[in-house]
Amino acid sequence: MTAHTPSHTPSIPADGPGTVAGQIVGGRRMRRNRRTDWQRRLVRETALTVDDLIWPLFVVEGTGVRQPVASMPGVHRLSVDYVAEAAAEAASLGIPAIALFPFTDPDLRDETASEAVNDGNLVCRATRAIKHAAPGIGIITDVALDPYTSHGHDGLLAGDEIVNDATVERLIEQTLVQAAAGADVIAPSDMMDGRIGAIRQALDEAGYTHVQIMSYAAKYASAFYGPFRDAIGSNKTLRGDKRTYQMDPGNTDEALREAELDLAEGADMLMVKPGMPYLDILWRVSQTFGVPTFAYQVSGEYAMIRGAADRGWIDGERAILESLLAFKRAGADGILTYFALDVAKRQKAG
Ligand code: PBG
Repeated sequence: MTAHTPSHTPSIPADGPGTVAGQIVGGRRMRRNRRTDWQRRLVRETALTVDDLIWPLFVVEGTGVRQPVASMPGVHRLSVDYVAEAAAEAASLGIPAIALFPFTDPDLRDETASEAVNDGNLVCRATRAIKHAAPGIGIITDVALDPYTSHGHDGLLAGDEIVNDATVERLIEQTLVQAAAGADVIAPSDMMDGRIGAIRQALDEAGYTHVQIMSYAAKYASAFYGPFRDAIGSNKTLRGDKRTYQMDPGNTDEALREAELDLAEGADMLMVKPGMPYLDILWRVSQTFGVPTFAYQVSGEYAMIRGAADRGWIDGERAILESLLAFKRAGADGILTYFALDVAKRQKAG
């Protein structure tokens, strides 16, 4: 048998009048808009730009330190000097904002998260260094106690219970040291009730009326946070789980009630988290309230895409852009993503 058997290959007729053409409604061939690159670009409904990106960064003690995070290949914990450099690079590429998360020295973690309210803690030092190195980039600081507690919870424990109101008092103190260090956006990720209103009031009373609040309004109790907990070192110490404060993955209407309350309490921006498994929530929140709404493509999502791409199982470059575009399609005004720098670099290169 030979590969060349033209005489036996039936010729394929060109598209034109015939049986199929008769079935095409109103002559409307959808493929007409997809024939060429210029046509596809012209009719594209959604686009991702560098303005949509927020880059989360992990901060660690020391100078000149760059520690790989095993479950997040390509992501590192950086000492304050390197975080400032990274933020400056992000700024030079046009990334609007970065988000800071600390790996607190285990010796500094305790039951009451005292390091969270230390105005010289890692996040505060990193904030000051970034303000100096890259004054034009927005700094989002995380408000929650889990990087600072010996038990790994976002709130304070009384026995086995995460106590709400005492935690909120602590979160207010944490907010105020971050604002004093120069944080532009306070992002409470703790899911305590009433914290947005309390934080707004405390910020205003202290004269920080310009500081924004990006509320983790709909944050689910998710398995996709695993690698993040490795990155901040809370995975091994976490006592129990976070289901008494983070949302049940079965719920949708509840997310709208959470978002409504956070807006009423003074949130400027909302966030839905995780991202890809919760695109329906993102869509409903963004459609219902019409306020700036963000998605967090969390550590587990990063790990899945990176892991598969590194093994050659998927085309990483395309999968990253496709995953980020999905958030835009679902109504996101922006995305927190560990891919932010890579994407910004690629977009700049064209
Ligand atoms: C905790 C916090 C978490 C993330 C951001 N803030 C994890 C958790 O709730 O345990 C997850 C981010 C990610 O997975 O990338 N305050």
